Amino acid sequence: MDLTTQQRIALIESVKRCTARPEFTAQFYERFLAADPAIPAYFANTDFAKQQRMLAHSLSLMVRAGVRGNTLSRELIEVADGHGVQGMNIPAHMYDAWVGALVYAAGRVDPEFSVDLMVAWRTFFTAQVALFVAHAKPS
Ligand code: HEM
Repeated sequence: MDLTTQQRIALIESVKRCTARPEFTAQFYERFLAADPAIPAYFANTDFAKQQRMLAHSLSLMVRAGVRGNTLSRELIEVADGHGVQGMNIPAHMYDAWVGALVYAAGRVDPEFSVDLMVAWRTFFTAQVALFVAHAKPS
């Protein structure tokens, strides 16, 4: 399903409101790490302050590349390689938890969140994650 221009504009504004607030990425990681008992072990040595900045940066890269067409930014293609079989080998099903945590955090943090925005977040980031997973090629 493609988003309308209006939905894309509303989504960009929502992403900006969320990434401007530190509690957004904090809520994301709290939810994501609780979504699957196998996830926390991957982040055993992670600096979460840095990781939270990476997340906000990844979302803005996705928005910038994704709204121009259904493409993934060059920088994220490299990040995806590091998540694939040659790197951390993240299982494909963990990406569903990633999108779920993202939509949850947006719903908690964006004061203007709505059902329409929920659909826009889920549709847009599911498509971006599919491109990321296609590059990551999990085993
Ligand atoms: C499309 C979704 C995702 C994006 C955009 C993303 C983005 C990133 C970025 C930008 C980094 C830091 C740079 C790098 O290591 O290359 C990173 C690191 C990492 N990601 Fe992801 N990621 C995604 C999904 C996932 C999933 C589903 C997992 C599952 C466990 C995961 C686990 C990790 C881990 C363990 C690190 C290393 C953390 C550390 O430095 O300790 N990522 N990710």
